[in-house]
Amino acid sequence: MRLGILISGRGSNMRSIVGAVRDGRLSAEVALVLSNKQRAPGLSWALENGLPTAAVSRKGLDREAFDARIDAELRSAGVDLVVLAGFMRVLSPWFVRQWRIVNIHPSLLPDFPGLDVHQRALDAGVSESGCTVHFVDEGVDTGPIIAQRRVPVLAGDTEDSLAARILEQEHVLYPEAIQRVIDGD
Ligand code: GRF
Repeated sequence: MRLGILISGRGSNMRSIVGAVRDGRLSAEVALVLSNKQRAPGLSWALENGLPTAAVSRKGLDREAFDARIDAELRSAGVDLVVLAGFMRVLSPWFVRQWRIVNIHPSLLPDFPGLDVHQRALDAGVSESGCTVHFVDEGVDTGPIIAQRRVPVLAGDTEDSLAARILEQEHVLYPEAIQRVIDGD
C-alpha cells in the first residue's frame, strides 16, 4: 500500500508513521509527503530523510484548483491511501470521492470535532479524552471511526498538557489503525 501523507505543520504523526514503516510495524510505503505550507517543519524533516515530497500552496488558487493540484501529485506518486496528519485544509467533496482517506483527530469523536478541541474538552469538564482515526467523508471529522485510544483528563490540566498526553497516544494509534485499514479489518 502506497501512502500519501498530507501535513501542514510539525508532522509528528507523519514521523511516527515513517518510523513504523521503517521498523516493519506497518506494511506500507511512504510514496509522498505533501504539505500546503512550504515552510512546514515536517516537510523539511521529510526532505532530510530522503522521502518524496511536494508543496502545494493554496495561494492564488480556488478550492477546486487546489484540490486538483493535490490530486495530480498523489496520482503521479502512485498513492493508494491518503493519510491526513495535521493537514489544516478541508478537502472538497469531489476530492473526497476520488480517494480513500483517513484522518487523525485529537478527541474521542463524535465529541469535539473541528478546532480548539482541547480547550472545549476542558471547558466541558470531561474526565477522559483521547484520539480517533477515521475515514474522511464530506463532513468535518464525521466519517466512520476506525480506532480510538483514551487518556484521562487530570486535575490541573491545561490545553498543552492534555494535547501532549493525547499526542503520545496518537503516535501509537495512527500506524496501528493504518495497518488495520491495509489488512481490511
Ligand atoms: C494532531 O494533534 C492531530 O490529531 C491533529 O493535528 C495535530 C497534528 O500534529 N489533526 P502533527 O503535525 O502530526 O505533529
